[in-house]
Amino acid sequence: MRRLTLSLGAHSYPILIGGGLLTAVDQIQPFLRSPRIALVSNTTVAPLYLERLVGAMEKAGIGVTPIILPDGEAYKNWESLNLIHDALLAARCDRSTTIVALGGGVIGDLAGFAAATYQRGVPFIQIPTTLLSQVDSSVGGKTGINHPRGKNMIGAFWQPKLVLADTDALQSLPARELSSGMAEVIKYGLIRDLPFLEWLEANMEGLMACDGQLLAQAIERSCANKAEVVAADEFETAKEGGRALLNLGHTFGHAIETGMGYGEWLHGEAVAAGTMMAAELSRRLGWLSAADVERVRALMLRAGLPVSGPDLGVSRYLELMSHDKKVIAGSLRLILLKGLGQAVIHADAPSADIAAAIEACSRA
Ligand code: NAD
Ligand code: GLY
Repeated sequence: MRRLTLSLGAHSYPILIGGGLLTAVDQIQPFLRSPRIALVSNTTVAPLYLERLVGAMEKAGIGVTPIILPDGEAYKNWESLNLIHDALLAARCDRSTTIVALGGGVIGDLAGFAAATYQRGVPFIQIPTTLLSQVDSSVGGKTGINHPRGKNMIGAFWQPKLVLADTDALQSLPARELSSGMAEVIKYGLIRDLPFLEWLEANMEGLMACDGQLLAQAIERSCANKAEVVAADEFETAKEGGRALLNLGHTFGHAIETGMGYGEWLHGEAVAAGTMMAAELSRRLGWLSAADVERVRALMLRAGLPVSGPDLGVSRYLELMSHDKKVIAGSLRLILLKGLGQAVIHADAPSADIAAAIEACSRA
């Protein structure tokens, strides 16, 4: 088992990565305020893993209230949040009940937001089961839901007490979902870890073949990067650098997800196409060479990811991007690359270059 810590003073917590962790109740028990959990999952993950987890919990004397939601990004909304709150109230869960998220980023974000808001906040544990959620969404405490006008527009920062990433769960993940998660893995290399980017270039085929050892290494390195960034800027308030850099490709990507309708493009797919737009814009600003952009493109393709977005039209992209959470006083701040492994936040990209980068990386 690999063990990392996200250092946030009194709110620090462990991130455990390895095979067989799903039923490691001994790791969970010390974090429970009472022997009572509400387990939030969905109709795809529950049939695969719920029984095993509930069995292990009950054997240890922990009462479980399962809450099973419909599956999909389209359900990351108020209705699902309300279903969780209803179930918690119906089961008379109190402030000592721990909410446990068992699933991908959609379940983690929803269950985390429910934990942040139920009775003004109850403890929360993440058991992420997709690559994307193991390398990104389960770590760092961003929780929330989508709004028809924009991705992740409603939410709260609410840190988990523990993240348990069972790498065995990835064996049942569809290939398209593995690719989606790989977009966030590649992101860490691009924004701040060139040696990791080179390691990914050397190992992408093994990773995509679901080699457990390689995946565990990639998850650990990704989480270590994320933990360092979040520890330094938990609430994304740093003006330069900081947590916002984790959003490489996301302003363009969120426009794709919202513009296409939630669930049409997977989050990582949209991030991959958005990253190509950010790379192309960085090239236009003279920061990346054409060879750098080609290197990013080649890696995305080897990870089974799209390298161009849908043709929403430049003006629709710009309209959707104007809702981004990084917009301050009407100014669009984008995460761009000064070089591979070196991201910056930039507010002054000329609109003509932004438009040209979108145009160059969207399918006609
Ligand atoms: P997801 O939660 O929709 O999961 C993808 C699919 O895989 C779903 O159908 C799910 O049911 C299924 N699944 C999950 N685990 C499985 C398993 N082990 N075997 C088989 N199928 C499995 O998507 P995701 O990619 O995990 O997460 C995307 C979400 O995460 C987006 O909503 C995104 O906005 C959010 N996100 C949040 C953060 C954050 O910091 N909070 C960061 C990145 C992304
Ligand atoms: N996924 C971006 C962040 O956690 O800040």
